[in-house]
Amino acid sequence: MAEPVGIVLGSGLGPLADRVAVTKTVGFAEAGLPVSSVKGHAGRFLFGTLGGREVIVMQGRVHLYEGHDAKAITAGVRWFYEQGVRHIILTNAAGTLNEDHAPGTWMMLNDHLNLTGTSPLEGGPNFIDMTQVYDAEAMLEFHSLATERKVLLHEGVYAGLRGPQYETPAEIRMLRAMGADAVGMSTVLEAIQARALGMKVSAFSCLTNWAAGMSPEELNHAEVIETGAAAAGEMMGLLEAWCGL
Ligand code: 6GU
Repeated sequence: MAEPVGIVLGSGLGPLADRVAVTKTVGFAEAGLPVSSVKGHAGRFLFGTLGGREVIVMQGRVHLYEGHDAKAITAGVRWFYEQGVRHIILTNAAGTLNEDHAPGTWMMLNDHLNLTGTSPLEGGPNFIDMTQVYDAEAMLEFHSLATERKVLLHEGVYAGLRGPQYETPAEIRMLRAMGADAVGMSTVLEAIQARALGMKVSAFSCLTNWAAGMSPEELNHAEVIETGAAAAGEMMGLLEAWCGL
């Protein structure tokens, strides 16, 4: 278990990296990756240790809504693989569709709906099994660490859409009917790419806000970033504990 864990940080979740003892930084351009234009997305890899485990943290992923295609979006996952990463942890900021999952809490993904209409595997490899995308053993470990640390960790299905606009209330009702608990604009393509490479995948949504129509409030990006920053510390503790296992 000497190989590094790859951790992808979502929008506003930069503070998640605060407890990583950084030894080296590599910019996206330097790694040959597409560079993001969105505020709050730094665009670099941090090499270091967390909980005594070697980690590589990707700060500032790129999204479909920035005009990149599925291949470009998942270049970081392939780069992680080249660096020896065999277990990747994806984090994101998401809206919550589940009345029992309040904003400000975390949801561990146990499955997803890829509603982006695309795949990083176009052109092959084909017919990758997607029965258990999110590693079941790691899920048990994270649940037990969360209980130990009194962290409320929900579990559910993440719907990945293209964006960049948030959903309408009708779209949210559709997603609820489809079985989604959270909705966002990332993660699913990276999870597909990682599984195609045979990597283990764990993923966590920081539930930053109610999805449209779930509350009287309108959605705004600043609030998403703010809530993410506040909840990041909790997840950092969990990741640190897991890396120390
Ligand atoms: Cl409500 N929708 C989407 N697509 N992404 C989000 C979100 C909602 N909240 C945070 N990110």
